[in-house]
Amino acid sequence: MQNQVPLSASTSPYQANGPSRRFCVAPMMDWTTSHYRYLARQLSRHTLLYTEMVTTGALIHGDTARFLRHDEAEYPLALQLGGSDARELAHCARLAEQYGFDEVNLNVGCPSDRVQNNMIGACLMGHPDKVAEGVRSMIEATDLPVTVKHRIGIDGRESWDDLCEFVEKLAEAGCRTFIVHARIAILEGLSPKENRDIPPLKYDRVYQLKAKYPHLEIIINGGIKTFDECHEHLRHTDGVMLGREAYHNPWLLAAVDSEFFGQAAPVKTRHQALRAMLPFIQSELDRGVFLTHMSRHLLGLFHGQPGGRQFRRYISENAHKSGAGLEVIETALEKVREPANPEIAEA
Ligand SMILES: Cc1cc2nc3c(=O)[nH]c(=O)nc-3n(C[C@H](O)[C@H](O)[C@H](O)COP(=O)(O)O)c2cc1C
Repeated sequence: MQNQVPLSASTSPYQANGPSRRFCVAPMMDWTTSHYRYLARQLSRHTLLYTEMVTTGALIHGDTARFLRHDEAEYPLALQLGGSDARELAHCARLAEQYGFDEVNLNVGCPSDRVQNNMIGACLMGHPDKVAEGVRSMIEATDLPVTVKHRIGIDGRESWDDLCEFVEKLAEAGCRTFIVHARIAILEGLSPKENRDIPPLKYDRVYQLKAKYPHLEIIINGGIKTFDECHEHLRHTDGVMLGREAYHNPWLLAAVDSEFFGQAAPVKTRHQALRAMLPFIQSELDRGVFLTHMSRHLLGLFHGQPGGRQFRRYISENAHKSGAGLEVIETALEKVREPANPEIAEA
């Protein structure tokens, strides 16, 4: 792992022209940890990965290096911030640059109560001027692309005009890239989980944004599961962002480089991907990380494969045991057969 101390310049090879956002994996708390991202990167070199949200307060008052820790293998990588204070956002945008991230993203889509009280997340859609001020400060503070992830509205501010006002104010502040979760967030009465399923998806709203503001980069998010769906969305928008599907079925990422970037797939089998991770897992074990913190992100890798259940069960039953190490993963791998003549298209 690198980046335990701020670096003077980015080590990411992607930063000069900014990362491509044609295919992205969404920021997800507790899920898109560095360990998940390392797995994702074995499967796709070009997918843009996002961190979990980190609040400005945590970065400024907490263990900054720990929150920003990542491996250079994870690039291209965007840091997602939660916050609304312009000075704090500027400070954290600078930190993102110092630590080598390729992009800094502001979360204006997360609906939890806990974050609403601190003016973080989707509630900020009701305060476009404040978000614009924060975005302007971030843009002034860093050369990194500053992007915003938001909803198509919140309860009480869900009209087309409200959405346009929000986007226009941010565009005036200099934001060029908008990642739009195609449903509103209902701040009163729904849990964050319900808010990812219950408000209906309205992809047309996102397509309309791209049509109205063709100079802005619009990335669509919400409920996307298959490549066919991605291709359909890419007819109307600049990129797609997948969350839950990319987590529960990470192998789908193995065909992304060929399907969306015209590049060869980095691995041919799930076994290859997992074996490529073993030295990283060992180095994490060596610095005291529990196996279970890493192995929980591997559980979906053999989803739907013969032996996949046994793989999952073996890890679930053994990874938490005291002293558990690489041998748990190696034994679990033996439960699934590696295809002799793999086709990457087996996803
Ligand atoms: C477990 C979990 C945690 C999430 N955490 C975040 C977060 O930290 N920041 C954010 O902007 N969205 C977060 N989201 C929302 C996702 O980024 C995404 O917008 C949402 O899941 C819809 O996309 P999907 O249908 O492809 O999963 C989270 C979603 C899940 C499932």
